[in-house]
Amino acid sequence: MLIKKVVIPVAGLGTRFLPATKSTPKEMLPVVDKPLIQYAVEEASKAGIEEFIFITHHSKSSIKKHFEEDSDLFNKLMEDGKEDLASTIKNIGGSEAKFTYIEQGEPKGLGHAISCAKDAIDEDEWFFVILPDDLFMTKGANVTEQMIDIAKSENRQVLALQKIENEEISKYGVISPTSTNGKISTIDGIVEKPDYADAPSNLASIGRYLFKQTIFNHIDNDNPGKNGEVQITDAILSDIENFIGYEFDGLRFDCGSKSGYLKANIEFGLADEELSVELRSFIEEKKNL
Ligand code: G1P
Repeated sequence: MLIKKVVIPVAGLGTRFLPATKSTPKEMLPVVDKPLIQYAVEEASKAGIEEFIFITHHSKSSIKKHFEEDSDLFNKLMEDGKEDLASTIKNIGGSEAKFTYIEQGEPKGLGHAISCAKDAIDEDEWFFVILPDDLFMTKGANVTEQMIDIAKSENRQVLALQKIENEEISKYGVISPTSTNGKISTIDGIVEKPDYADAPSNLASIGRYLFKQTIFNHIDNDNPGKNGEVQITDAILSDIENFIGYEFDGLRFDCGSKSGYLKANIEFGLADEELSVELRSFIEEKKNL
């Protein structure tokens, strides 16, 4: 199983972060010193992905610019002896990286966004979908690498799962597991954003999917689902016997929410050698107030 492509939907407007996102795509907001979108690309690249297919909107040209070579800046940093900084802007996504941009046009939902990549995926090909709002911190293998291992051993498409124990579950697609063995669940249903009382389990599908090309046969752009949007959840449901769920190892930050975004900055800041001591003592000070 060779997985070389990732689809990254970035066409959403990011209104929750206005005014910051008036002229800056939400995916370009930094966590510490790196835009969210670069974390997504680096995660996929580490897992062997070489083609990054952005489903985008014409207002998001800075994302394209971010992944273009900037030899002037690179050479200047090298001349100034700033090799470390220079390396952070060179070959993002790996030396073989290919970036493809597909305009979504009208934003009709996540299922529709993913379907825009149909012509870029070959028959029988496996591919990832990464929602860059979901940022992960892991100790060993990253979430994408973990999911590839699971797909190889189970030979099924994979949904990344997280246990959500409160009302927040109604913000997600929620699976109904038939059996759970450690971190792996077999599934016989999934429902998009159920009421808390109706949620079939506490296992939410989060922003990482490993699909086969056949998923496109299940996306129905003519019949929108929940909230009038074409939901990927409905496509998954219509092919549910070919999926398993996997509870990832690591921490997840929902950077689509302000609190999740701030928490990510704190956690990644604490993990940064240059910042951790100062940040830790600032947090200690605040604790005593
Ligand atoms: C989307 C999906 C939902 C999934 C969530 C993960 O929802 O529709 O099933 O649980 O991503 O972040 P959105 O957050 O775009 O409303």
